[in-house]
Amino acid sequence: IKRIGVLTSGGDSPGMNAAIRAAVRAGFYYNIEMYGIYRGYEGMILNDIKKLDSGHIGHILERGGTFLKSARSEEFRTVEGRQKAYENLKSHGIDALIVIGGDGSLTGAHLFFKEHGIPAIGLPGTIDNDLSGTDSTIGFDTACNTAIEAIDKIRDTATSHDRLFFVEVMGRDAGFIAINAGIGSAAAAILIPEKKMPIEELVEKLKVRRKRKKTSNIVIVAEGGKSGGAAEIARKVRKYLPHYDTKVTILGHLQRGGAPSSYDRLLASKLGVMAVEGLLAGKYDVMAGIINNKVVYTPIKRAIVDDKSVDEDDFRIAKILST
Ligand code: F6P
Repeated sequence: IKRIGVLTSGGDSPGMNAAIRAAVRAGFYYNIEMYGIYRGYEGMILNDIKKLDSGHIGHILERGGTFLKSARSEEFRTVEGRQKAYENLKSHGIDALIVIGGDGSLTGAHLFFKEHGIPAIGLPGTIDNDLSGTDSTIGFDTACNTAIEAIDKIRDTATSHDRLFFVEVMGRDAGFIAINAGIGSAAAAILIPEKKMPIEELVEKLKVRRKRKKTSNIVIVAEGGKSGGAAEIARKVRKYLPHYDTKVTILGHLQRGGAPSSYDRLLASKLGVMAVEGLLAGKYDVMAGIINNKVVYTPIKRAIVDDKSVDEDDFRIAKILST
């Protein structure tokens, strides 16, 4: 392997820059030419590819977002799109890829490897933490910290006004951010896509808390939860508890930005180096992740299977702590 292309794809996550920097530095260490592919697979198709030097990666470790930019490419989902992308890579002599992104982005890398035989290693870059083969994805820890910081502020005003807040956090089909931020901010209840909580049960919980003189409450709702988003839940609860002063806050993309936490910087740095070393060791079509503090390579096909779910203990603990 002489030339490696690096790209970030899908929803950005804090720590992507740190991962790019680590991969590029490791590449230079092993005398490999490193190329930046801009806007993910979109840039591969449009030939937006540039050779990187150390100037590109100075002072990016600590910055949120991704300097390579990111996109969700529809065209790369087509055989023709991937063929164009392949021809562009060949024109630059790029013979291996590091793809940093979530399940959709890694699926792309897997398909591309199958069709065109370009060795690829994926790195888990998503705030959602919904990839198997790693305890944590790059950006998850920062997103949870951001959510908790925001919820703490909401807590102040909720307490002053004895209000009931429904706070919606990101996580698409996964409740990892919700459960983590919910436990970390002493939420009254946590609604996640993986477990349906009937409205009646939630209402009962809130009534019990009121009896126990808890006049302010924060309910965390994961977006896309089975019972609906925060606005929908609030609307349903108001029917049962019309005298409660209820408010809705959607944290949204706030959770995707900001400087990566110490944990995410370390995770991204380790994985960036291990991606290059993995490619050099002939590990293709795999995702590098960390399990029990050790870097492991999991076949991409396995990593993207939607079977990582919120820990049952975490869910039970959250329940105990909110009664
Ligand atoms: O996958 C990361 C994520 O932030 C999800 O939590 C969220 O549902 C989605 O991306 C939002 O995507 P977009 O930025 O394209 O609206």
